[in-house]
Amino acid sequence: MANSGYYIGLMSGTSMDGIDAALVEISDHGTTRLVQAISHPWPSSLESRLRDQVARKSCTLHEYGELDHLCGQQFALAVLALLKASDMDSDNIQAIGSHGQTLYHHPYPPSPFTLQIGDPSIIAERTGITVVADFRRRDMAAGGQGAPLVPAFHQAIFQHPAKNRVILNIGGIANITLLPASGKAVQGFDTGPGNCLMDLWCTRNTGLPYDEDGDWASRGNPHAGLLQKMLRDDYFQLPPPKSTGTEYFNMQWLEERLEAFPGIPAVDVQATLLAFTASTIEQALRRWAPSTGEILVCGGGIHNLTLLDRLRKLLSPMQVMATDDVDNGMNPDWIEAAAFAWLARQTLAGLPGNLPPVTGASHPVVLGGIYPASGRVS
Ligand SMILES: Nc1ncnc2c1ncn2[C@@H]1O[C@H](COP(=O)(O)OP(=O)(O)O)[C@@H](O)[C@H]1O
Ligand SMILES: [Mg+2]
Repeated sequence: MANSGYYIGLMSGTSMDGIDAALVEISDHGTTRLVQAISHPWPSSLESRLRDQVARKSCTLHEYGELDHLCGQQFALAVLALLKASDMDSDNIQAIGSHGQTLYHHPYPPSPFTLQIGDPSIIAERTGITVVADFRRRDMAAGGQGAPLVPAFHQAIFQHPAKNRVILNIGGIANITLLPASGKAVQGFDTGPGNCLMDLWCTRNTGLPYDEDGDWASRGNPHAGLLQKMLRDDYFQLPPPKSTGTEYFNMQWLEERLEAFPGIPAVDVQATLLAFTASTIEQALRRWAPSTGEILVCGGGIHNLTLLDRLRKLLSPMQVMATDDVDNGMNPDWIEAAAFAWLARQTLAGLPGNLPPVTGASHPVVLGGIYPASGRVS
């Protein structure tokens, strides 16, 4: 396949913990190697505005336009910082795949939509590199959920001829990709909250953005009644394809469930939220991928040692490991950003990036829009 070379992927997920920027080298055969990666912090004022808009689920057109501009500027700065860190020139880069910052994901009839911001024209203009962006909407236009989109990359990198593998990405939301050894159709969907509820509760009670290593949660005891109530949410009964976001699993959702259980110590709520994330992942795997041998974990949640410990216990004898514990693996912190670099290359090569059995789209589609490196008329 043509279009081999260096690509950059930009990802900022629902956690809003920073912009992940990954430089990868993709060979003619599609082999993808991570060359360099950085996390570019959001300026704190912009981060608060983004969190506020997402929590309020509304903003004026002026605010929307301004945020789109400011995020585009930050994505461009992330690329420039990555180029500097890797001692690379923009001329060496084939393209940037920019996911954008999700403000709202609503894959439901009658008017499904998904909204990612971070003006790609600004990124192309400031970096001098071709940008591919707006990946999700073409899948949605073809009847899909627009998510998850990383499974095609997971398949290209991690499918094994003899092992049934699952890739488990624990970001703000958690998603799984089922990679059967048989080569049968790959499946994947959002299992529900990953870190998002734990982060919100931790911030409210400790002022810290997340529970480092899961240490606070490890000192509490899960509350059985609250856990059961949370697990009864309809989302977990839905069959795939399905996707969700923090428009649904947010502080309001948590407060509604806590109302029935006043007085649970904050540390026990944190322990319950951790148990909840682990149980929803376990239930999804037992129901949809019971013969899984290896679960390869990526995303920031892999650093929550208490969560990993609990997953190992719940999922035994399935093996829970990191995405770089296998041959030709990849550092778990950069998989999603690398995926959008890979998806940019698919688009430039005129190849589809979605997997219809995963998203529910009626057919494979070439994803996104292309913003050429040079806007000049030649
Ligand atoms: N050392 C750590 N201990 C516990 N949790 C962590 C740690 N490092 C990162 N995380 C979690 O990972 C999240 C970021 O994960 P990430 O994969 O970037 O999610 P997203 O794709 O939503 O941005 C943080 O918000 C936090 O919850
Ligand atoms: Mg992140």
